[in-house]
Amino acid sequence: MPSVVVVGAQWGDEGKGKATDQLGERVDLCVRYSGGNNAGHTLVVGGEKFVMHLLPSGILNPRTTTVIGNGVVVDLDVLAAELKQLEERGVQVPHPLISANAHIITEYHKVLDKVTERFLGNRRIGTTGRGVGPTYSDKVNRLGIRIQDIFDEPILRQKIEGALEQKNQLLAKVYNRRAIEADEIVASLLAHADAIRPYVIDTGRYLNDALDAGKVVLFEGAQAHHLDVDHGTYPYVTSSNPIAAGACTGAGVGPTRIDRIIGIAKAYTTRVGEGPFPGELFDEEGEALREAGGEYGATTGRPRRCGWFDAPLVEQSAKINGFTDVFLTKLDVLTGWEKIPVCVAYDVDGVRHDKMPLTQSEFHHAKPIYEYLDGWTEDISRARSFTDLPDAAQRYVRRIEELIGCRISGIGVGPSREETILLNDLL
Ligand code: GDP
Ligand code: IMO
Ligand code: MG
Repeated sequence: MPSVVVVGAQWGDEGKGKATDQLGERVDLCVRYSGGNNAGHTLVVGGEKFVMHLLPSGILNPRTTTVIGNGVVVDLDVLAAELKQLEERGVQVPHPLISANAHIITEYHKVLDKVTERFLGNRRIGTTGRGVGPTYSDKVNRLGIRIQDIFDEPILRQKIEGALEQKNQLLAKVYNRRAIEADEIVASLLAHADAIRPYVIDTGRYLNDALDAGKVVLFEGAQAHHLDVDHGTYPYVTSSNPIAAGACTGAGVGPTRIDRIIGIAKAYTTRVGEGPFPGELFDEEGEALREAGGEYGATTGRPRRCGWFDAPLVEQSAKINGFTDVFLTKLDVLTGWEKIPVCVAYDVDGVRHDKMPLTQSEFHHAKPIYEYLDGWTEDISRARSFTDLPDAAQRYVRRIEELIGCRISGIGVGPSREETILLNDLL
């Protein structure tokens, strides 16, 4: 019985939510293992659109149990609000199971995220402002608040007072902001204790038992390879490990338990926030891609920066994550171009690089070298098998496969669950 990891291959928003939901019918457990509500995963089911920020995307599937792993940072207000929103739309979903070890995003993390960005000025990261970075820093600094802490009020209070001793100095003396009262934070967290208590478990043990029992487990990545704090375009990254290996630390399963790693790659490239992006289009082509693909952030509504497919970027993530398969999304968005450029290498200060260059400075100087593939004009949104695609679209997919060195097993031809072509079984 397979366990699969779904990972973003670029800079996020590749369509991980749709791919996760699409695989859903055969999934017993859907697990988020990193990030927090900085993610925005869009699902379109029965013509209705849902955006999940913290809840695992398997949540709409009646037979799937969802799990928030220890590697996730949890904003308890967001968790409650997302569940409530689904309920208000008439969707009954079971509450996700939550790791006792997951860290909590508090009000002071959110305030610090925003003031630090403001302070950085033009050196800012362009974070989502959800408090994710400061929460992970506290975790590594051993100053964090974990889910289990809210079941022990004296300990919770002690930890929050300890954390605030330092943070309030910083807020008042460096950022000129009002100090935060420990009582307010304690009360806001305790307010959630009763509601989540029945769902808080040792998710690592639970998942390993489920795998022993032959359950199908899908680990749903948030963010993406090039936003990974170790492997991404540092410092323009998130503060966690979205890569496939992050599923092991962030969910508590050993590497031997993972059978498949599915990289989700958009048929072109987008990025939100700051940081290098060699193929970024600043002209009407970029604008046309943004409009055709609806490239506006699912979390912050920011217009996404757009460019053509960057093969060295995805080849790097295929290699480091060990993708067994790639799911190429949004191919339909490319319909209508006479020629479609694909970045096959970079020119870095006059030197050709077929692979991603070693250093950040080189990557900042990289200019895309394009190959121009034939486009197609036919509507492909109703294609359900590879041979339904026009020849030029088939050639586009095959060329990308060759350039990234990994087989393409799924193709997205529209936002809804059904608008998918499967070339190989993914589960
Ligand atoms: P995620 O963060 O990786 O889950 O991706 P987002 O949900 O942030 O962004 C992907 C966007 O593309 C969403 O609006 C999806 O509904 C949409 N989408 C996903 N797959 C496809 C596809 O194959 N074709 C089209 N046209 N849209 C898609
Ligand atoms: P999904 O899961 C795209 C980006 C932010 C910023 C950087 C750091 O929907 O693909 P953070 O708030 O994490 O400290 O911001 O990472 N970022 C994302 N970009 N998709 C996401 O998630 C992202 N999550 C964070 O824009 O550049
Ligand atoms: Mg997204």
